[in-house]
Amino acid sequence: VKSTGEQLYRPNFHFTPKNNWMNDPNGLFYADGIYNLYFQYWPYGNKWGPMHWGHATSKDLVKWEEQPIALYPDRFGYIFSGSAVLDVNNTSGFGNGKTAPVVAIFTYHDPVKEKAGAMDVESQGLAYSLDNGYTWTKYDVGNPVIKNPGIRDFRDPKVTWDNIHNQWIMVLAAQDRSQLYVSKNLKYWSYLSDFGKNIGAHGGVWECPDFFPMKVEGTGETKWVLIQSLNPGGANGGSGTQYFVGDFDGKTFTLDKAFAERVAKEKAVWLDHGKDNYAGVTWGNAPVKDGRRIMIGWMSNWEYAEVVPTNGWRSSNTIPRELKLVKKDGKYALLTSPAEALKNYIEKANRQKKIVVKGTAVLSQKGMTDLTKADITFSVKDLKQDVYTFTFSNDAGETLSFGIDNKAHNLFIDRQRSGSIAEFQKFTGTPSKAALSGLQKAGTFRILMDKTSIEIFYNDGETVMTEIFFASEPFSTFSAAASSVFEINDLTINQLKF
Ligand code: FRU
Repeated sequence: VKSTGEQLYRPNFHFTPKNNWMNDPNGLFYADGIYNLYFQYWPYGNKWGPMHWGHATSKDLVKWEEQPIALYPDRFGYIFSGSAVLDVNNTSGFGNGKTAPVVAIFTYHDPVKEKAGAMDVESQGLAYSLDNGYTWTKYDVGNPVIKNPGIRDFRDPKVTWDNIHNQWIMVLAAQDRSQLYVSKNLKYWSYLSDFGKNIGAHGGVWECPDFFPMKVEGTGETKWVLIQSLNPGGANGGSGTQYFVGDFDGKTFTLDKAFAERVAKEKAVWLDHGKDNYAGVTWGNAPVKDGRRIMIGWMSNWEYAEVVPTNGWRSSNTIPRELKLVKKDGKYALLTSPAEALKNYIEKANRQKKIVVKGTAVLSQKGMTDLTKADITFSVKDLKQDVYTFTFSNDAGETLSFGIDNKAHNLFIDRQRSGSIAEFQKFTGTPSKAALSGLQKAGTFRILMDKTSIEIFYNDGETVMTEIFFASEPFSTFSAAASSVFEINDLTINQLKF
């Protein structure tokens, strides 16, 4: 079939393994100018299987090089999601006096216990590396470093150096809540507290948390952020990621009061409202300004990840994104923007200052820009109570749309007619929506388009939507439509070179 080709679907600038199955990003750490990314990997098939950690490296978070497999299953079980830290002060004692050890802590998932219907299927294991993450030694005499306390879903440890209280902290997902643990040496852990039972979205099991301090932009203030994936129960169905902002006294995480009110009112505060950004976590030690964090997510959804039409490999990651914590009108929120380094890949730019749209307007004609590698920014104004639709289309009559619905007050992505698995109800059944607060008179967009993904950052990344699609031929035209007159300003369509 024409639509399953390597050529057609292999992303231009999003990481995907050369072969076979990938899910969650794992073990993110930075050392000696290299960003390390590990991932849930089944090297012998294109569906989920006994998990390994695959590995990839990058100098700029955009171009990735796949490395040999880092961790293999062993007698304790499969290697599920987890994290890695550069232990600069050799607190663990695994160091050899030459390089700082990298310590990975991950979940062991025991398939034998699972089959027997046991509760203690998942525990936390440790491995360390003395060559910056290329080869690993399992901590055999000490594993598992955290035994299962009798909770069936007990996984995805994320370790962070808490430089405020001078301790290692770990957050992990325990079914319907997250749990915090503390350690001095990464080997012995004690339980601290729980967070989240009956708070936020609980349509499914909590998975893959991340927990870290952030400076509030432009202030001296620090707040703690908990990122929390869950599946199912996401913003538009299936897998999704919410976040919480509050305070941490070294033991307990307490939600900020205004944020708690927002959670109560909106049910959950979503990091991304699209269907395809899951299990995202951050690099704890990436060189970023002002206490920001770089995050990457798995660009798929458990509702259909195993059946998307890329047979040689399955799944790619989101573009790495910079998170900023801001305070506006007394309320904390995360703003998300794509990796800075993308600007180094701009090949040519098409710019238009002002376009008055009456009915419809073509913004990029066939042949003008390769829309399978485009970074598009623009602003809109003079919006009324109308629907503003932006559409990518191809000669096969397929379309992918997004826009602002000022009648229903949402930002939307509609991939119902976007291509070859349009018949798959869970994939394309209804447009995805992100609620917007009131009538939008104006707004700004940044859109990243790859062969099989769209990432939308609305109003400086206040509202984000990420979705995948599988058109039978590349989209070649980009246009705008509304029934009332409006203005598009500063349209820049950057074509990226890859
Ligand atoms: C999330 C997840 C994790 C688990 C891993 C297994 O997508 O279910 O909770 O560790 O995938 O591959």
